[in-house]
Amino acid sequence: MKIIYLDGCATTAVDDEVLDAMLPYLREDFGNPSSPHVLGKRARRAVDAAAASVAALVGADPETIVFTSGATESNNIALLGAFAHDDRAPVNGVFCPIDHKSSLAVGRALAGRGVDVRTVPIRPDGRVDLTGLAGLLDLHTRVATVAWVNSEIGAVQPIAEAAALCHEAGALLHVDAAQAAGRIPIDVRAAEIDTLSVSGHKIHGPKGVGALYVRPEIRHRLRPIMFGGGQYALRSGTVPTHLVVGLGAACELALRRRNDDWSRVRRLRATALDMLTTGIEGARVNGDPHGGVPHVLNVVLPGVRGESLVSSLHGVALSTGSACNSDSQEPSYVLTAIGVSPEDANSSIRICLDPRMPHEDLVRGIELVVERARGLTGAAAAR
Ligand SMILES: Cc1ncc(COP(=O)(O)O)c(C=O)c1O
Repeated sequence: MKIIYLDGCATTAVDDEVLDAMLPYLREDFGNPSSPHVLGKRARRAVDAAAASVAALVGADPETIVFTSGATESNNIALLGAFAHDDRAPVNGVFCPIDHKSSLAVGRALAGRGVDVRTVPIRPDGRVDLTGLAGLLDLHTRVATVAWVNSEIGAVQPIAEAAALCHEAGALLHVDAAQAAGRIPIDVRAAEIDTLSVSGHKIHGPKGVGALYVRPEIRHRLRPIMFGGGQYALRSGTVPTHLVVGLGAACELALRRRNDDWSRVRRLRATALDMLTTGIEGARVNGDPHGGVPHVLNVVLPGVRGESLVSSLHGVALSTGSACNSDSQEPSYVLTAIGVSPEDANSSIRICLDPRMPHEDLVRGIELVVERARGLTGAAAAR
């Protein structure tokens, strides 16, 4: 049975082009990029080329890219690394309550160590309240962190403005771009971002690989959080050439397709929204219907339990929110933070649109969602 996949914020399939680029580094070119011999040098060249591809996607120089196991690790290195020295000083960090748990959990760990962890206010449209952010920053703020694109509602944050406020206070700005890379243009230099995380598997690359951009001028303000052979000073461990090559290929693909994808996905979104609002009484968008990335569509379906809908659909894969929260019975913390009632939050689903999916697949997928939702509310039976 064909599964219509509407959950690209959780993960994406590896593109054939990416897989083809990776395979030689699992077979004949298996050398360790740190080895001085011919196979090592070949692997090293591939890793350097991948760094150039990641750098091109985010507007950076290749030397500023550190490979990691994913955005979770990148966020940990950037945030814990900023607090890993001189812990005696009174220090604080500013966190965004709608961000992914790989940032929020770091905040909780830091609070447990005595760091003053501050929470930035979020507006009903899902954007950071910049006046609120300014009020939280002071001389003792090491770092503020914001996810550029929110994984549940697609809100796009005012990153350049946040960076300017952070720098005025002498703080670093870390940006989690796991959902932004490949979807919106990123220029770390123009936005004056200090550190930025990317994840391979969100952009048709492999799972288990990501990158951290580190602005050279602030590198001395980060300390490594794990130690070893020092392959990259901030992140030890043998570099997994095949994964890194896959990430590089995925970044090239994303850069090549980005403009084209944006217009395709807008059309898919319009179709999905039209079908949902005409098919289900009272269906409406959570967050700003026009302000976020078009790829993410979070909708309330009144009277339908989102979890029941998602788990009872067999031909469609979608979710109620972030994959790492899907076991939780609690309403989404992202939706409640923007003022959605717990009841509406529990009646919400998240549809992530793949720009490359055939239009007829989307139509079929949404038809199945509407049919099932109507079955769950009893609307179908009433007609
Ligand atoms: C905004 C955001 N940050 C971080 C992550 C974690 O990324 P990874 O799976 O590469 O560790 C995700 C994945 O869902 C995400 O959406």
